[in-house]
Amino acid sequence: MAFLKKLKNINILKRIWIERLSEPIHLNIISLFVAAFGSIKSKIDFDLVIRQHHAYGLQFACKQAVSQNLKSFTAIEFGVASGAGLMNMITIAKKLEKAYDVRINILGFDTGAGMPSPIDYRDHPDLYLKGDFPMMFELLKERLPDNARLVIGNVHETIQEQLKLINPESPIGFVSFDLDYYSSTKDALLILNDQNPQKYLPVIAIYADDISLIPHNEYAGALLAIEEFNQASALRKICIPHFLEKERVFKNSKWLKQIRYGHIMDHSHRSEFKDTDQVLFIENPYIKFRGNKDKFSRS
Ligand SMILES: C[S@@+](CC[C@H](N)C(=O)[O-])C[C@H]1O[C@@H](n2cnc3c(N)ncnc32)[C@H](O)[C@@H]1O
Repeated sequence: MAFLKKLKNINILKRIWIERLSEPIHLNIISLFVAAFGSIKSKIDFDLVIRQHHAYGLQFACKQAVSQNLKSFTAIEFGVASGAGLMNMITIAKKLEKAYDVRINILGFDTGAGMPSPIDYRDHPDLYLKGDFPMMFELLKERLPDNARLVIGNVHETIQEQLKLINPESPIGFVSFDLDYYSSTKDALLILNDQNPQKYLPVIAIYADDISLIPHNEYAGALLAIEEFNQASALRKICIPHFLEKERVFKNSKWLKQIRYGHIMDHSHRSEFKDTDQVLFIENPYIKFRGNKDKFSRS
């Protein structure tokens, strides 16, 4: 029923028309079966989960956490508004926690009173204004499970205190930036600047919401904030995953262009030299290496 209601929404119909029906017919047929019988993992692979960017980012972090033998990680939404995005994250996280046996702690940052005043053209007052997107705090708060928490206040004031509270046992693995403004996103990006690199997964998934409309550009808004972050930070970089669509079943989805990877270059996993005798080895199918492979070691 909820699905049929959604189909009536003109934007969703437009997206299905442009993004989905432009994909090969056999993949759309397979996805009908996945929708009916698939696991959460296959539904994410086939873009069948509402807000695919959340599903992708959370699953990306789950896989990383498992590979790091971690039992928990933290996912963050900057810009909560009425909480539709946060509740969606919570719903997906609940399924992924079971699938990957990992706990997902969720933080949502917002003023609680809608958009603050824009500073200048870089905040796109052509698109957003003070007071837009208010929150019904009490209503939202009572719906939150115990793994989710709201941080109310301007990120400019709340970010440092919250960063101190991040525990390396539950490092940051996924961040969604949906604050609309350049100034707010610039402040929120400080979440990636903690001195302790173990407060992050080695590569974190990032979703940048406010980069896809016609007025958005690299000289204002979230794109400018990310550009300045990269210039100012030597060991933390936010990069475009150039091959992401090659790894996806459906390649035309808009959200693919809104994903970034946050590279934590100083994370121990990336910056400490491994103490192992084993050398990397490339098999040569033209030569019989069997039996000889073990003779290779570093010493
Ligand atoms: C577009 S809304 C977020 C929508 C939400 N992510 C969703 O998907 O439903 C943007 C939100 O960012 C919040 N915001 C913008 N600048 C902020 C700042 N400096 N500090 C805290 N919240 C801010 C606003 O209060 C607003 O609710």
